[in-house]
Amino acid sequence: MLREDNSVFSTHPPETEMKIVHTIEELHAAVRDLKNITLVPTMGNLHDGHISLMRLAKQQGGAVVASVFVNRLQFGPNEDFDTYPRTFQADADKLEKAGVDVMFAPSEKDMYPVPQEYRVTPPDSLANILEGYFRPGFFNGVATVVMKLFCAVRPDNAIFGKKDYQQLMIIRRMVEQFALPIKIIAAEIHRGENGLAMSSRNGYLSKEELAEAPNLYKTLKVAVDKVRAGNKDIDALEKEAMDTLKARGWKPDYVTICRQYNLQKPTAEELAKGEPLVILVAATIGSTRLIDNIEI
Ligand code: PAF
Repeated sequence: MLREDNSVFSTHPPETEMKIVHTIEELHAAVRDLKNITLVPTMGNLHDGHISLMRLAKQQGGAVVASVFVNRLQFGPNEDFDTYPRTFQADADKLEKAGVDVMFAPSEKDMYPVPQEYRVTPPDSLANILEGYFRPGFFNGVATVVMKLFCAVRPDNAIFGKKDYQQLMIIRRMVEQFALPIKIIAAEIHRGENGLAMSSRNGYLSKEELAEAPNLYKTLKVAVDKVRAGNKDIDALEKEAMDTLKARGWKPDYVTICRQYNLQKPTAEELAKGEPLVILVAATIGSTRLIDNIEI
């Protein structure tokens, strides 16, 4: 059929419309007959990075459920819970366009009708280092909401981005330890052409900070190239990266090169044998704290 401007449009509605549900009860009804469900948990304010996760979810071949919930449990008292962008309609439009089958967007009362006293507490060795050291209680809040989402959706697969590397490792371990029948799929980091990893928090950056931000990735890349070229002095490489960032006006919390598997320091023997490593950084520019990482 022709529109007035002569462009063609279909007379058929999209085959399946995205369902938007808010309560766990509605969610149960919406997913009851779905097969091979892939869950993509998000806190909304969706950007291209999230949409690439939806695409990966679609590639799994079954139904896609995306959750949008800003989870108070994972925010510290001085963090940005109240100001965290809530962009429901824009998120719903993007998810529908990406072909998501069900959007689960609970209110706080829907998700936590009574105070969430039962929690999932990941081990200190994984949860109280790096992000967990700088954000006490963060991974307890993440693991608890993810477990609740898993129980509510009962997905076959769940997608987590490598951008939040420590989160991915903690969820993987949680799934192993509770023997949950869920396949965790890791999605590559979505970067702009300048190397800057997509993040909801990039929206907080001023024009000048946005121009500086790609140097976070570039600084990591310098260290990665040196490790790949055979430099095993990881302490010196971490210090060099910290110094570079400080000199550029960043306040780095950490730069660390560690084992991919448990985020602990490799032994000299493991380094010599080519243990899979990852370099992780958290640093603040202006008042915005960014994280990034590269697998080595
Ligand atoms: O990565 C996030 O956006 C959140 O930590 C998650 C996994 C949705 C849990 O609130």
